[in-house]
Amino acid sequence: MLRKITSIDFQSNNNTSQCVLIRVDYNVPVENEMVTDDYRILKSLPTIKYCLDEGAKIVLMSHRGRPGGKKDASLSLMPAGEKLAQLLEMPIKFSHDCISEDAIDVSRNLKSGEIHLLENLRFYDEEANNDPLFASKLAQHGSIYLNDAFGTAHRDHASNSGVTKYFTTKGMGLLVEKEMEFLSDGILKAKSPITLIIGGAKIDTKINVINHFFDIADNILVGGAMANTFLAASKYDMGKSLVQKEEIETAKKLMLKASKSKTRIILPIDFNGELNTFGSGKLQYATKDNIKKSMICEDIGEETISLFSNIIKLSKTVYWNGTVGVAENESFANGTNKIIDAILESEIESVVGGGDTVAAIRNYKKGLIEDFSHASTGGGSCLELLSGKKLPAIEMLRKR
Ligand code: 3PG
Ligand code: MG
Repeated sequence: MLRKITSIDFQSNNNTSQCVLIRVDYNVPVENEMVTDDYRILKSLPTIKYCLDEGAKIVLMSHRGRPGGKKDASLSLMPAGEKLAQLLEMPIKFSHDCISEDAIDVSRNLKSGEIHLLENLRFYDEEANNDPLFASKLAQHGSIYLNDAFGTAHRDHASNSGVTKYFTTKGMGLLVEKEMEFLSDGILKAKSPITLIIGGAKIDTKINVINHFFDIADNILVGGAMANTFLAASKYDMGKSLVQKEEIETAKKLMLKASKSKTRIILPIDFNGELNTFGSGKLQYATKDNIKKSMICEDIGEETISLFSNIIKLSKTVYWNGTVGVAENESFANGTNKIIDAILESEIESVVGGGDTVAAIRNYKKGLIEDFSHASTGGGSCLELLSGKKLPAIEMLRKR
C-alpha cells in the first residue's frame, strides 16, 4: 500500500514528537553559491510545513549533481539549505556529512519543529550503489520515512530505495502524491479529447512516451528539433536544421503506427530560424516545403502556432513535455509562449513536465506555472511515468 502523509501519526505513543526523515530532490542549479532556480525547493514546502504543523522533527536529505562519490564543495547542499531557510523564514541546521556520528547526533537531539539538512548524499558512492550499510546509517536519522523526491524516483538508490526497509512507517510526501495522481493514475482517467505535446531535441528520449500515448491521445503535436527528424522522414528538406539521421527509421515507424491507431501525429507546417549558423542573427521564416539549404529551424512559425492552438482549444486534457522551439533564446521562445497561452486560455486540464518546459513557463511570466493543473518537478521520472512505467523508489514504499 502506498501511504499518504495524512494517514501518518507524527506523535509516538508517549506523546513525544517523532523524527521524520524526508528524501527531497534539491538537485537545483547554483551559481556563485546561490540557487538560481528554486522550483524544486518551493515544491517541497507543503510536506515540510505539514510535518512542522504536526509537531514533528525533520531531517532532509538529497543529492545534488553527480559528484561520483567524492566530496565536491561546488556541489554542496548548503545553498539549497540557505534558500530553504529563507523561504520558511526559520533557521535550518546543516551537517557537512550525511552519515557521520555527529550528523546522526544532531538528528537525535532535534526538538519538535526543528529542521536538519544533511550534506549531498552522492559524496558517497554507496548512495548510487544502493549500499545496505549506508542505507542503514541514513535510517538512523529518523523513525518515520517520507519520499518527496519525485525527480529522483526513477533511481534505485540507498536514500530512496535501500533505506525504506528500515522503516515500518513510511509513505509519500505531498509532492510525490500529486505527481503520482497526475502522471500515473490520471492518464487513464483523463477526459478526451486528449492532446500530447511533445518537443525537445531528441526522439530517442521520448519514443516510449509517444508509444504509450498511442490509442490514449487523440492528437500528438510534435515540436522542437524532434519535429525536424519526423519531417526529414517524410522527405522534407530541413536545410541545416538539427536532424537525428539515425532516428529517421524510428520516426517512420511511429508515423505508420499512428496511421493505424486513433491517434494523429501532427507536425509543424512552418518555422522561424536562422541562416548559416546558430546565433548568426540572420532570421529566416519558411514553410516546410521551402526551407533553404542554409536555414536552421529553431521555432514553430505562426501557421503552426494557429494549427496547434486550435487543436489545444478543442482538447479537454493536455500533456506537455518538451519546448517547441529553442525557448531559452528569446528570439525562438515565441512558439512555446503561444502554446502556453493557448493552454491557459482554454482552461483545460493541463499537465506539464520536463525541466526545460517548466523553466520556459516560469521565464515567460511570473506565477503562470501555478495556473497549470500540474507542473512536474521531474525530468527522467516524469518521462518514465508518461511512458507507462513504474518508478522503483515509489514501488519500494509499497513494500512492508
Ligand atoms: C534530476 O535532476 O533529473 C534528478 O534530480 C535526478 O538526477 P540524476 O539524473 O543525476 O540521477
Ligand atoms: Mg537528469
